[in-house]
Amino acid sequence: MSKERVLITAALPYANGPIHLGHAVEYIQADIYTRFLKLKGFDVIYCCADDTHGTPIEVNAMKAGMTPETFVKYWYERHVKDFRDILVEFDSYYTTNSEENKKFSDMIFMTLKEKGYIYTKTIRQLYCPKCKRFLPDRFVKGKCPKCGADDQYGDVCEKCGTTYKPADLVNPYCSICKATPVAKDSKHYFFRLSAFSDKLREWLTNKDIQPDIKNYVLSWIDKGLEDWCISRDSPYFGFKIPGEKDKYYYVWLDAPVGYIASTANYCKKHGCSAMDYWKSSHSKIIHFIGKDIAYFHLIFWPAVLMASGFKTPDDVVVHGFLTVNKEKMSKSRGTFITVRKYVESLEPEYLRYHYASNLTHSVSDIDLSFEDFKNRVNNELIGNIANFIYRTLSFVKKYCNSRLGKFELSGEEKDIYDKILKKVEEIDEYYSKYEFREVVKRILEISSLGNRYFQENQPWVIVKTNKEKCINVLTFSANIVKILCIVLKPILPKFVREIEKQLNVSGLKWDDYKKPVEHKEIGDVEIVFRKIDKIDFSDPFSAVDLKVARIADVSEHPNADKLYILQIDLGKEKRQIVSGLRQNYKKNELKGKNIVVVTNLKHANIRGVKSEGMLLAAEDGKNVGLLLCDDSPGSDVLVEGLSKKPVKEVDIKHILKLGIVAKNGKALYRGRVLKTYNCEVYVDKKIEGCVR
Ligand code: MSP
Ligand code: ZN
Repeated sequence: MSKERVLITAALPYANGPIHLGHAVEYIQADIYTRFLKLKGFDVIYCCADDTHGTPIEVNAMKAGMTPETFVKYWYERHVKDFRDILVEFDSYYTTNSEENKKFSDMIFMTLKEKGYIYTKTIRQLYCPKCKRFLPDRFVKGKCPKCGADDQYGDVCEKCGTTYKPADLVNPYCSICKATPVAKDSKHYFFRLSAFSDKLREWLTNKDIQPDIKNYVLSWIDKGLEDWCISRDSPYFGFKIPGEKDKYYYVWLDAPVGYIASTANYCKKHGCSAMDYWKSSHSKIIHFIGKDIAYFHLIFWPAVLMASGFKTPDDVVVHGFLTVNKEKMSKSRGTFITVRKYVESLEPEYLRYHYASNLTHSVSDIDLSFEDFKNRVNNELIGNIANFIYRTLSFVKKYCNSRLGKFELSGEEKDIYDKILKKVEEIDEYYSKYEFREVVKRILEISSLGNRYFQENQPWVIVKTNKEKCINVLTFSANIVKILCIVLKPILPKFVREIEKQLNVSGLKWDDYKKPVEHKEIGDVEIVFRKIDKIDFSDPFSAVDLKVARIADVSEHPNADKLYILQIDLGKEKRQIVSGLRQNYKKNELKGKNIVVVTNLKHANIRGVKSEGMLLAAEDGKNVGLLLCDDSPGSDVLVEGLSKKPVKEVDIKHILKLGIVAKNGKALYRGRVLKTYNCEVYVDKKIEGCVR
């Protein structure tokens, strides 16, 4: 790559939910690559934005009781924080709901129209008469026409994998309101994608992209490209099509244009023009994307760019999907991990390190197994790299009065140094080829060479007999630390900034790897990373075992005038619990009620009476109302989307910290209703307040 302008992009995340560790693969991958190029002195920017349009966002905003504008703003603010906290640094993070994006989308649409690449046609689609909207495939559900599975989406059956049209579903219904949709005609705009088959084929054939992706996309072209419907009827959240009252650009038309708009957003603050990137032959555009959106980026988008006179991307880097413990991320298994949840308990750089160690220039999926992650971080990142750095620097402080001596290469050091320099050159090449796994492998080799050298030369021994030699050994080691800083910088920017400070060499660039540090005082030395002892992202609610129980009998506690002793029936077993309800309920009011009980609470002895659990009740400061449920005794109580993984014993503090609240007659955990499989839990006397 010459010293041209480089634009790096990552796919625009939907403003429709939090950034999770799956997304993070891509943003971190592209961030590492950008940081590497910057370190090498290239003129490079990294641009992204929130993807704000489309039916799902419009519908979810409605469900959340917000306008789409407020809804996308809400997510925008969260996304910005999430990226900051995993050290993903964009030069521009914009939104597709912007002036610039409208301007460029209209410009492109009008050009396509003028050149005859757009036509209109009336098509028949499913329409919900109750919601008064056309239903995208994902908003129609019904019985699979092939295998008969219930509640399948309108495009593909998750049970048998058959793909079909929504109209093929048996007993289709609107996923928003459950009404039966009808077929209805509407005029739509189409882009003549078919006219670009040959151009696309030629473009792809000559392009240096991942071979498996290339073949895959070429086979799509060979099957014949269909023209692309680029309009949607209202209600929709998006940009109106010029000259139309009720029609909008399909989100996938204006979303990639968001790359241009985000570039323009950067340029307006930095004295350049988006066209310097998007129309010039002296620029390079590299898109990072996941394999699920390859069709959009290697067929639709380049065709639109070709048709409207922009340059096409120079490279499209496609990555695979993240699995957690070898399985698809899943909310119910507790492996759907958001960035927010991750950074609350672990260092962002551990994740960056783990991803880098797993990333290659291929579309294979990458796995985050907790065991693997922990071992890798503890043994490699901390045990090998960080430990070598800390030992070296703390010895310089202790034995050399914080002063480095002369950088001298005797026979042994010369040998090691040559090996290391060769590895740095290989690392350079592997970074350029998106082969981060090979990068990390060599970084570890450098650090192992350092550790061995340090160990064999025993500076802690020779300091007593040959101080000069000791200073030499530590100065040489410190130079390995400096090289580690440089090669690690794209992956661990914050850690390296810290070590640069400790070594007193701030702002290292790639080319500094050959320039020795010597004859200087180092800074304060401190341990930066601590080992991980356990990883637990499961929801605290999952640990609790809640069940419906029937109150079989009630008696007064002999030693406490506020307490009752309840005999409860849990279906398969009977238990006794002590509870402070005497001022709120009479005995006969309690008997026969179906309450909710924590069955894995640590057993206690309350004023001489054993208590094997606790019941849940809401209180508002004055009154108390039991949580009740009409399901049979023994039924599990859960919340939607979380499966139970009860631990052997929880304590009362754990229950209080959950923050279950009673509102509108229901009991809510983080906004989700407590329920059994069959019925919701409700609050007696409609009390509102905390549940405990
Ligand atoms: N909004 C579109 C992209 C428009 S680009 C003009 C979109 N958004 S997304 O939020 O669903 O995904 C954003 C990126 O994250 C995509 O490249 C997608 O492949 C990637 N990932 C989303 N889930 C992922 C995993 N579980 N694992 C790895 N990457 C994943 O698609
Ligand atoms: Zn409906």
